[in-house]
Amino acid sequence: MRVPLIAVRQVDMAKIFVAKETDPGEARVALTPDSALRLRKLGHSCLIESGAGEAAGFDDESYCRSGVRILPDAEAGRSEADVIIQVRPPSLPAAESLRSGQTLISFFWPAQSRELLSAANRAGATVFAMDMVPRISRAQKMDALSSMANIAGYRAVLEAGNSFGRFFTGQVTAAGKIPPAKLLVIGAGVAGLSAIGAAVSLGAIVRAFDVRPEVAEQIESMGAEFLLLDFDEDASGDGGYAKPSSPEFRDKQLELFHTLAPEIDIVITTALIPGIDAPKLWLEDMVRVMKPGSVIVDLAAERGGNCELTVVDEKIRTGNGVTIIGYTDFPSRMPEQASLLYSTNIFHLLSDLTPARDGNLVVDPQDDVIRGTLVAHKGEVTYPPPPPKTPAVTAPAKRRQAKPLSPEEKQAAELAEYHARTRKQAAILVAGASVTIMLGIFAPASFMQHFIVFVLGCFVGFQVIWNVTHALHTPLMSVTNAISGIIIVGALLQIGSGNIIVLTLAAVSVLIASINIVGGFLVTHRMLAMFRRS
Ligand code: NAI
Repeated sequence: MRVPLIAVRQVDMAKIFVAKETDPGEARVALTPDSALRLRKLGHSCLIESGAGEAAGFDDESYCRSGVRILPDAEAGRSEADVIIQVRPPSLPAAESLRSGQTLISFFWPAQSRELLSAANRAGATVFAMDMVPRISRAQKMDALSSMANIAGYRAVLEAGNSFGRFFTGQVTAAGKIPPAKLLVIGAGVAGLSAIGAAVSLGAIVRAFDVRPEVAEQIESMGAEFLLLDFDEDASGDGGYAKPSSPEFRDKQLELFHTLAPEIDIVITTALIPGIDAPKLWLEDMVRVMKPGSVIVDLAAERGGNCELTVVDEKIRTGNGVTIIGYTDFPSRMPEQASLLYSTNIFHLLSDLTPARDGNLVVDPQDDVIRGTLVAHKGEVTYPPPPPKTPAVTAPAKRRQAKPLSPEEKQAAELAEYHARTRKQAAILVAGASVTIMLGIFAPASFMQHFIVFVLGCFVGFQVIWNVTHALHTPLMSVTNAISGIIIVGALLQIGSGNIIVLTLAAVSVLIASINIVGGFLVTHRMLAMFRRS
């Protein structure tokens, strides 16, 4: 569907309304006192139905303090509001009763809710679906699906621990040795990575599998083991998602899971490809060979589940003592955290919709994020959107060599890499020495003296920085402060020179080195503050 290219001015000083969520058991709220304050700075005014934030831990009084007007019921708010924000999609009657020109921002699932979408469109409303925020870097701050999946992954580990009768971490106690729990995460997207982080921090041995090879590094950097398949297939799809794998690949995958099932204590499954049912990856016979007391948390339950025995929204125990959790409301089980993240996502979307920060909503269809999220506007259904012009957050990579290496193969590979590196370094050294000798033959002695010091300086500096991992480059600034200090001492010695060129160079050196020192201290101070407990 085409959307008019010209930005559309909609309303002045938008009134944003939040009603109590009507879905039973939904504890999240789309506005928090903090996000209300930030929305006011965009020129908007906020209204909320009394008690809407209570289940998430925000009472009316806290909203009042943030300048939010409390309304006794939803009806008044809906008729007065220019923008309605909520978590769950509206009911059909609520969509039908939207006003022409009114804007709705919520999860909407347009592909699955065609009737709802037509109803909202017939009413003349503009609808932004939070589940449609494209996965591009710029949109990460609005990515509500990721925010919720992050919580779901974390909560899945807690729920698993709640049903698991043992420690996650291994211990050696006077009463005996306790082995660590072995945990398998299937699908290392946002929820999977969050589960890996939580489980590793609790001390479990974590393995993870994903069809997208580019997640291997992320998995390993979080302290888990990436399970490789002896199969040459790259299942990376568009937009940072996977594409369906071939039947042969799936067979290999199931074979791997079959061998793992008897030794794994906890399985957390999150495998999903948008728009299709969750693939069945943990089959009944795998559940049957698991040890009694083992736990499966199926995060994909909403879409049919990755485990064959999952019962949606329930926790069941199989005949052989395996607990299977199929809840679909993990984020709502951490309502305060979920509301804080979701309301921040909504704030960022509204911030992009209010470029002048004057309370005027501007729908710019040229903006990838706005266009991707917009599903109905000015009487037109604008779903599905065209693919975003900006590439997705993750770039596809070639599937890595598959089979895990034996110790001998690993040693041989390391030796070959060492030889190659040494050959390269020797070639560079020979080339450098030849250039220096050639210069030495023709250049004056005084030049050579300075030149050699310069070359050694470059070499030492390069080695210092090159051999430090990228993540530590910022703390390295503290070390470079020492080098800057030496530069200042050298420059001060030269600054009294009568030669204007020497004087200028010395002054510039002092200036640049001082900036480096002050900047280094500031950045290091900020970094340390990030790790300090308040
Ligand atoms: P995501 O798209 O970031 O991650 C899914 C991962 O599964 C991707 O890395 C993909 O490569 C992988 N995958 C796809 N097919 C696979 C296969 N056959 N084998 C192995 N890996 C495969 O999705 P996200 O945001 O992490 O969500 C994961 C799941 O959690 C979804 O099903 C989502 O609906 C669900 N979810 C459930 C909640 C709940 O309360 N139960 C709350 C939030 C999310």
